[in-house]
Amino acid sequence: MKAYERLLLENKAWAKEKVFEDPEYFERLVNVQTPEFLWIGCSDSRVPPNEITQTHPGEIFIHRNIANMVVHTDLNMLSVLQYAVEVLKVKHIIVCGHYNCGGVKAAMTHSSLGLINKWLRNIKDVYRFNQQELDQIENYDDRINRLIELNVKEQVLNIAKTSIVQQAWKNRHAPHLHGWVYDLHDGLIKPVFEMAAGSALDHPIYEFQWDDQAH
Ligand code: CO
Repeated sequence: MKAYERLLLENKAWAKEKVFEDPEYFERLVNVQTPEFLWIGCSDSRVPPNEITQTHPGEIFIHRNIANMVVHTDLNMLSVLQYAVEVLKVKHIIVCGHYNCGGVKAAMTHSSLGLINKWLRNIKDVYRFNQQELDQIENYDDRINRLIELNVKEQVLNIAKTSIVQQAWKNRHAPHLHGWVYDLHDGLIKPVFEMAAGSALDHPIYEFQWDDQAH
């Protein structure tokens, strides 16, 4: 059997098992999607959101990219964010990074890796913003892992800077923002940063002022 054929076979077994356990399982799911959470995570195959939180299909709306970045010109991320906030009306947005993240490690080298240089550039910026703190950490792994925490915090702040989230904060006092880091060694998630709806931004220049017709 070819490797990919195993996935299709496992899918058949899974679907059968679901219906066996609960005959209406798929019927229920097909009709409604009302997740409370938007998850922005790393593409890393070792950090599957539903599995590590024991949640089920329908519970988390998910966007993943290398190093769980929120880049304000990324139309893919922004489209997911807008749909999650304005249509699904999620109550919480979680940015979940993970220790030992290859994307963050690569950003801390001087290697030129092709197209991905442009993506990793955003992480280099986070290093620059926090250089004073990071350069004081002598141990390499500790330094990378602290940057991973600071990167998660920066991406949460980036979500708060969007007009999408600021307008939702004004209109419905949600969503709340959470920055988490997953540890591959013990499977545990560590919360590192929180922003309740309506929190002040890290700099007032990013605050939008709305009149009644504002978008
Ligand atoms: Co990663």
